[in-house]
Amino acid sequence: MTSALSHGSKTALTGVERRFDSDEILVSKTDPKGRITYANRTFLRLAQYSEQELLGAPHSIIRHPDMPGCVFQLLWDTVMAGEEIFAYVVNRSKSGDFYWVLAHVTPTFGGDGRILGYHSNRRCPSREAIKTASQLYGELRALERAATSPAAGRAQAAARLGQILDSCGQTYSQFVFGL
Ligand SMILES: Cc1cc2nc3c(=O)[nH]c(=O)nc-3n(C[C@H](O)[C@H](O)[C@H](O)COP(=O)(O)O)c2cc1C
Repeated sequence: MTSALSHGSKTALTGVERRFDSDEILVSKTDPKGRITYANRTFLRLAQYSEQELLGAPHSIIRHPDMPGCVFQLLWDTVMAGEEIFAYVVNRSKSGDFYWVLAHVTPTFGGDGRILGYHSNRRCPSREAIKTASQLYGELRALERAATSPAAGRAQAAARLGQILDSCGQTYSQFVFGL
């Protein structure tokens, strides 16, 4: 894991992994803009934030710098289109530790069909899946870091992700389930 300081007042990354049991689920809900409206106790424990600190905060409060922006772009494009997505995500806790999750993110619809917000259920991925996702994300993140702007980096990394998935004839979801 990277040991650089992130933006703002966040503490330095520790390189220490936080683990949770395979029968535990980290749950959060957001408003349509991605601001947290609910987090369960397991989420709070792993993220090391209090409910008070998280409510109303953007989900990027636990963003880890090793996560490629193009994966979040895909996540948002998918859920805003009313679809669900499964994604591997490495998160950063308040102390600077990291933890991997397999997230299932879904839109929540109102009676009139409009999107009222989003919901994420996160489970513990296998060690093998973490290894593969980590390698893939490392390559994508390197492309993003080397680009002249964040937008150009996301586009280049998204193109590379598309190339990799095309070469094995998979969508991102199929890749996720294949791990
Ligand atoms: C329901 C939901 C759950 C999310 N969960 C996470 C999460 O666990 N970790 C994370 O870094 N981003 C999560 N995101 C994505 C963030 O909203 C954001 O796009 C991401 O942290 C990148 O932030 P940035 O574009 O400010 O760098 C989630 C979004 C939604 C809609």
